Amino acid sequence: MIDAGIEMKSINFAIIGCGGIALQNHLPGLALCPGTKVVALCDNDPATLERARQQTGVAVASTKHEEIVSRDDVDAVIIATPNFTHPKIALDAIAAGKHVLSEKPLALNFADAQAMAMAADRAGVRHMTAFTYRFVPAMRYLAHLIARGDLGQPYHFRSCRLQDWGTRGLGWRQVKKLSGTGELGDMLSHRIDFAHLLVGPMKRIVANMKIVHPIRGGQPNDLDDCVSILADFQNGATGVLESSKLASGRNESWRSLDYVEVNGSERSFVFITGEWNKLQTGKVGGPGLETIEVPKEFWKTPGSPRDVGQGDPLVTFRYDQMWEFVDAIRNQRPCNPSFHEGARAQAVMDAAVRSAETRQWVELPAL
Ligand SMILES: NC(=O)c1ccc[n+]([C@@H]2O[C@H](COP(=O)([O-])OP(=O)(O)OC[C@H]3O[C@@H](n4cnc5c(N)ncnc54)[C@H](O)[C@@H]3O)[C@@H](O)[C@H]2O)c1
Repeated sequence: MIDAGIEMKSINFAIIGCGGIALQNHLPGLALCPGTKVVALCDNDPATLERARQQTGVAVASTKHEEIVSRDDVDAVIIATPNFTHPKIALDAIAAGKHVLSEKPLALNFADAQAMAMAADRAGVRHMTAFTYRFVPAMRYLAHLIARGDLGQPYHFRSCRLQDWGTRGLGWRQVKKLSGTGELGDMLSHRIDFAHLLVGPMKRIVANMKIVHPIRGGQPNDLDDCVSILADFQNGATGVLESSKLASGRNESWRSLDYVEVNGSERSFVFITGEWNKLQTGKVGGPGLETIEVPKEFWKTPGSPRDVGQGDPLVTFRYDQMWEFVDAIRNQRPCNPSFHEGARAQAVMDAAVRSAETRQWVELPAL
């Protein structure tokens, strides 16, 4: 555990997994947070580790996470490895008393994700799931408007994530034992989290998951290229969530469609990730949707050291995620979203897999 004088000293981080997301999001995010330092790196691929060591100038490096998470000079651990490795690394870090930010999906199943959340609570460390898209300014503003009652009684949640990944190889992402699920865990997990944030917990779901390309990049693919979920929420709202890698011609990342619509008794809201500082909204009985601007105070998370005028806003909103983690450590408060939100999304993912296999509706546990 970190002692009460944490705000007086630097928070020292270890990064486990020095691949894509560590370099794109976590390192630049940390670089913006005053009083933080990366002191140790781990990657089980020696060449990747060496590249990261040279890029960052961090001297302490190992291919074994056990040697890194147990170090006395490490306060907090960032897990940016393939999905199947998250629980073991997190539990080892928690056992060593470290705060943990883990990439999503937290685990390959709900039991493991919940075990991570419970172990972290018991140890009294901060724990966070990297549901990065919560930090899009328009999403933060939408969550605020809905929490203050602007939507009224929620009727429908709708989410559509459409990308064009064709038939290219996806490495560990196309191998069930390494990734757990395909499109479901990779892309739809964020949108399941949106649904929880904006509408609340689901009661039951039915899902369809499909492997369209059993070969990707010349290698076997045993994971879903596309997934759709129909949901009943506990508050009576209904949901439709769809995500696909095979929306030909739609491009990728934020240049492709990431659409959320929420309809309630008072009004509707539409959120599109690509339009980071706008929402569309319409009042019940009104003439149609109008575009509203996200107020400046929502352009970054409160206290974030990020200059909103610097860089591409569709890249830089992601850095606020690290600020949330750092601020929670400093102020000894829960992270938002924590491992509990990660575990809740995992329960829906498990239910989706079961539903797709059995062709049945699946009831969700009350969490
Ligand atoms: N939050 C987001 O928006 C977002 C975006 C992309 C990826 N992710 C998540 O981040 C994680 C990593 O994805 P990525 O795209 O960076 O993958 P990646 O393959 O680019 O990087 C993963 C790195 O982990 C290393 N590694 C594998 N097993 C390891 C182990 N046991 N110990 C140490 N290092 C190990 C690999 O060598 C590789 O360098 C995944 O869980 C993914 O779902 C999240």
